Amino acid sequence: MSDRLYIFDTTLRDGEQVPGCQLNTIEKIEVAKALEELGVDIIEAGFPISSPGDFNSVVEISKAVTWPTICALTRAVEKDIDVAADALKFAKKGRIHTGIGTSPYHIKYKLNSNEDEILERAVAAVKYAKKYVEDVEFYAEDAGRSDNVYLAKVVEAVIKAGATVVNIPDTTGYCLPHEYGEKIKFLMENVKGVHKATLSTHCHNDLGMATANSVSGILNGARQVEVTLNGIGERAGNTSLEEVAMIFKSREKELEILTNINTKNIYKTSRLVSSLMNMPVQPNKAIVGRNAFAHSSGIHQDGVLKNRENYEIIDPVDVGINESSIVLTARSGRAALKHHLENLGFKLNKERLDSVYQDFLKLADKKKDIKEDDLLMLLGEIRGENQRIKLDFLQVLSGKEVHPMATIRLVIAGEKFTATSDGNGPVDAAIKAVKQILTRHVTVEEFLIQAITRGSDDVGKVHMTVSHEEHYYHGFGAHTDIITASVEAFLDCINKIPVVKK
Ligand code: KIV
Ligand code: ZN
Repeated sequence: MSDRLYIFDTTLRDGEQVPGCQLNTIEKIEVAKALEELGVDIIEAGFPISSPGDFNSVVEISKAVTWPTICALTRAVEKDIDVAADALKFAKKGRIHTGIGTSPYHIKYKLNSNEDEILERAVAAVKYAKKYVEDVEFYAEDAGRSDNVYLAKVVEAVIKAGATVVNIPDTTGYCLPHEYGEKIKFLMENVKGVHKATLSTHCHNDLGMATANSVSGILNGARQVEVTLNGIGERAGNTSLEEVAMIFKSREKELEILTNINTKNIYKTSRLVSSLMNMPVQPNKAIVGRNAFAHSSGIHQDGVLKNRENYEIIDPVDVGINESSIVLTARSGRAALKHHLENLGFKLNKERLDSVYQDFLKLADKKKDIKEDDLLMLLGEIRGENQRIKLDFLQVLSGKEVHPMATIRLVIAGEKFTATSDGNGPVDAAIKAVKQILTRHVTVEEFLIQAITRGSDDVGKVHMTVSHEEHYYHGFGAHTDIITASVEAFLDCINKIPVVKK
C-alpha cells in the first residue's frame, strides 16, 4: 500500500512575500478555494501579526474553506501566537506554525543568542501554542545549514513538547539533494519519538534544487512537503506544487507515495495564481509552462504523432491541459468565453461576464485569435476599473528622425488634467507628461515589456516598479498599444501609493 504525502501549500504566505505579488483578501479567498478544489491538505493562509490585512485574510479564509487545515505563521513569540490563535478562531481545523532559527548564522547574527537559549525558546513556543490548538508545527529556520546533531536535539525537544509536525526548512536553498536527504534520514534515525510527529520539507530554490531536495527528503522519510503554485516565493522561490504532485503521480509504482492532488486542476489553478499575482509563468516551466507540452522540432513532432509517449512522460490531460480547445474569435458567444474563463479558474456572475464579453468583442475585432493570456489581460483591466487616477486620453508622436512628443489626459478623482511633454522615446515622453500632472516625486526603477502571445497584433504586458520616498510599488498594464500599456503600468504603481490626507 502507498504512503500518504501531505501537501502543505504556502502560496498565500511564502509565495505572497514576493514583491509585487500581494493579493487583497477577496483574491486570497479565491486562491484558497481553488487550492481546496485542487486537494491540498494544509493551506498556510498568512502571518497574522505582520499586518491587519494578513490577519483578516486568515480569518476570512478560515470561514471560506471547508476541509483543508488552515495554518498561520508566527515567530517563537507569545504575542505572535496569541494573534495567530485569534485569526484561526473560525478554522474548522487550525494549525499554528511557530519556529526559530537553528543555524549558527541565525543563532549568532540574527538572534544574538546561544544554542541552549534557542532550544528553550523553541520548546516554550510550542507549549504556548498548544494551549490554543492541538495541531502545532515547529520550523527550525535555516535547518539546511544547521548542525545535524543540534538540530536533532531541537526536533526531539519540540516533539516532546507536543509538536505534531516538524518543518526542516532549507531556507537559503543551500543544500545538495543528497545532503538534504541525509539530514532527514539522520533525524528519522536519531530523534527519540520521531514517529509521534511528521517531518516536513520546505526547500527554497536559490540553486535550482528545491524540488530535487524536497524529493530527496521525502524519499528519506518526510511525509509533508511545503510547496507553492508555480514555485513562487522569496528570491528564487519555493518547491513547486505541480512538480511534486506529478513526480509522485508519474512514478507511483516504484515510489509508492501518493498525494491527494486532483492533478486535472493543476493548470487552471496555476493560471489563476499567475494572473492574480501578476507573475508570468516562464514558458519552459515544468508542467505548467506554455512550452511544457509543445513539440517544435520535426523529429519530435513525428515521434509524438506516432506515439505520444515517445516524447511525453505526462499526458497533458492529466494536468488539465485540454488540447481539443475551443478557439475564441469575434464570432464566439458568451458560452465559449465562459468555458475558457472557467478553465482558467474564473467563475464570473452574469453581470461581470457580460462586461468581460463586451471587452472581449472589442479585442477580438483587433486580433484574429484570442488566447487565454488575452483573457487574463481583460480580467486585469476590469480589476483596474476602480483606480483613483485613470488614463483618459493619450496621443504620441514618434518615428525615425522625429522628436518624440506625448499628450496625455488623466482623470483624477473625477477631474480632468492634460499635459504634453517630449522625451527620449514615446514611453519616456508619455511618462514625463504624467509626471507633470502628478505632485509626487517617483522614479521608474524597473520596466519589463512582454508580448503575451505571438504576432504583431499581439497584446503587450508591462510590469513596472517605481520608488517613492524609499518605498517600492509594482504595477502592471496590458494593451495592444505598448505605450498605453506602459502608462497604465505606471499609473497602476501610482495608484498603489497611499494617499496622505492633510
Ligand atoms: O524558509 C523558511 O525558513 C520559512 C519559514 C518561516 C518556515 O519560510
Ligand atoms: Zn520559506
